[in-house]
Amino acid sequence: MLVIATAYEFLSLFTFVLGISIAVLAALRLWAQASLLRNLAEHLYIAFLALTVSLWSFLPILSNDRVIHPQWQWLLLLAMVLSISWYTIYVCNRIIPLLAKYRHVLWAGVLLLLIPFVGLLVTAGGDPVWTLTASLVVGLIWGVDAFLMITAAYRLKDKLYILAAGFMVSLAISYAGGLWLTSSYLHLITLGSLLCYVIIVSLAALDNAYLRSMHYMNQKVEEVRQELAAQTENIEDVVISLARTIDAKDKYTEGHTERVSQYAVFLGERLGLSDRSLETLRIGALIHDLGKIGIDLNILNKPGKLTEEEFAQIQLHPALGQQICSPLKALQEVGDIIRHHHEKLDGSGYPDGLQGDQISLNARIVAIADIFDALTTERSYRAALSVDEALDIMREEAAQGKLDSSILYEFEALLLDLGVTS
Ligand SMILES: [Fe+2]
Ligand SMILES: [Fe+2]
Repeated sequence: MLVIATAYEFLSLFTFVLGISIAVLAALRLWAQASLLRNLAEHLYIAFLALTVSLWSFLPILSNDRVIHPQWQWLLLLAMVLSISWYTIYVCNRIIPLLAKYRHVLWAGVLLLLIPFVGLLVTAGGDPVWTLTASLVVGLIWGVDAFLMITAAYRLKDKLYILAAGFMVSLAISYAGGLWLTSSYLHLITLGSLLCYVIIVSLAALDNAYLRSMHYMNQKVEEVRQELAAQTENIEDVVISLARTIDAKDKYTEGHTERVSQYAVFLGERLGLSDRSLETLRIGALIHDLGKIGIDLNILNKPGKLTEEEFAQIQLHPALGQQICSPLKALQEVGDIIRHHHEKLDGSGYPDGLQGDQISLNARIVAIADIFDALTTERSYRAALSVDEALDIMREEAAQGKLDSSILYEFEALLLDLGVTS
């Protein structure tokens, strides 16, 4: 008997300390992280529940008589019944809203509990009949709580809720069936069950907070992703219409940018570029001649040889193109392609006279695709060359150190694969 009494005392103290800690932690979390928590109500219920359980468990230690409850013990028991029922209804509401209709049964039980409670207050908590009635009503209310918890736990198939439901059943049985008897074992079971219940539901609340915040985050990420996708679509439209405008300006270059873009992407794929780089290549090649928008139409379409001055004007188009798209964040990466698609590896290109590795892989790829398409289509100053003639010129340029020979080699293989032979 002494062992049981000591165990009971220890468990009471333990429940008190733990309950207070959980209540304080839940309150702190509510105060400090309210904007992050997606289960504010659950934290509030847990704080209330842990507080009532801890106070209820501590009272017998102060009292000499642990079997017949003093008035305070009954007052705290009423608060505990309320907190557990509140929490149960919250869980049901969240998991199976239909079950929440049982809250009327619960509240009716709580009202019913007021009768023996008043009786106990009047008789200073010592009347065995009122004690028995109150215990039975508490057992009944917790029986309903247990039933609701089991149903919710079964639906959710969550181990924590299943455990909580199990301890709720144990509580209901111990109260309805035995608390009114002077069995110390049952007191111990009740206290143990309450302790476990509080621990488990607070863990479930933490778990729930984590899951909900993850869910919330995923939702936000998805929203941003959709927004970005919509923006990208808009940019895509702008880019395509820009590309068409450039093509339309020069009557000899219809479809030039789209073909260059297609060649560049195929080449990039063969060279093992990432999806992101391929996308940059695709858009960059589509608008590589964007700067031609600012060049005099008469110069662009002039038949025959250009004067030095006119050629100098044409040479402005890469830098002009980059300037046009530089304020647009989405087109920052393609600026390099636009500015450097006329650079040569030996430094003889324009506008910056870059050499070797100073010219990015993307710009070199677009340069090869661009030169090939320019040579094989009719221009104002000459007729279209055949594929072989064009490749001969390009090989010559590679031999002179102007074009990247490894990319040209890959480009020739690509043309073979595509069946572009004449
Ligand atoms: Fe160009
Ligand atoms: Fe071009």
